[in-house]
Amino acid sequence: VIVEEKIEGEESSFQAFCDGKHLVPLPETRDYKRAFDGDRGPNTGGMGSYKDVGDWLPFMTRADKEREIEIIDKVFRRLRGRGSNPGLRGVPFYDAFIHTSDGTKILENNSRPGDPEIQNLLPIMKDDLIDVCFKILDGNLTRVDFEKKATVVTYKAPPNYGGFKDAFPQLVNWEEIDSPVDLSRAHDLAEKYGDRIRVYPASIELRDGQTYALTSRAVCVVGIGDDIETARRISLEGIRAIHGGSLWYRGDIASREHVAKSVEHMKALRGS
Ligand code: GLY
Repeated sequence: VIVEEKIEGEESSFQAFCDGKHLVPLPETRDYKRAFDGDRGPNTGGMGSYKDVGDWLPFMTRADKEREIEIIDKVFRRLRGRGSNPGLRGVPFYDAFIHTSDGTKILENNSRPGDPEIQNLLPIMKDDLIDVCFKILDGNLTRVDFEKKATVVTYKAPPNYGGFKDAFPQLVNWEEIDSPVDLSRAHDLAEKYGDRIRVYPASIELRDGQTYALTSRAVCVVGIGDDIETARRISLEGIRAIHGGSLWYRGDIASREHVAKSVEHMKALRGS
């Protein structure tokens, strides 16, 4: 019995659709759980995430992804019994994996989509989501297709989220905290980027015709591009165009330095 084990490696998020019979793995994403730049600060629900152009991440290999599918497939077969659990539908597998010197290890399983990770995927899914849902219900979902694009999600959150106001009180605009959040300039960026930018309000409410942040991650912007850097630039331009509520964000989601650090870390762990 393992009571506790320290695992060193790089994390990735695995998600799969399931119609009760078939497991349909989705492209891999990387979540940024720590609140602040450089992976400092407390864990949050995820301040942002990225997806590379293909099905796995720059620090992973095809074999890593195949191993993940193998592990999840084993869990899936056990859970569905001999077809006795056809209700295993939707997104029963959203798993955190850690890639280590000792191979691919599963860290946790959730039966729901990942947030922000699902926002990396749905905007570039070629299939219509409603058709996918019907196929999930009918038990005939065998594949879904994605555009070969990179995507980057960056979230903005209010100062009382993620310990920000205690860590950086000097960066909080206290007079602006209860002010409306203006999403219009971010939406206007669609004129420049078309459907390569998406603005998704989250923990936010409409009051007297204006938008106010609530207590959790308030709004995210998804950038879509031919590579991670282009997607990141669009995501950041969108997030910086959102004003009000004294919202803050991580500036290093999918940065060249962060991605390179993961790649170097994995090389060192694999001894290659
Ligand atoms: N991204 C973390 C979660 O959805 O729990």
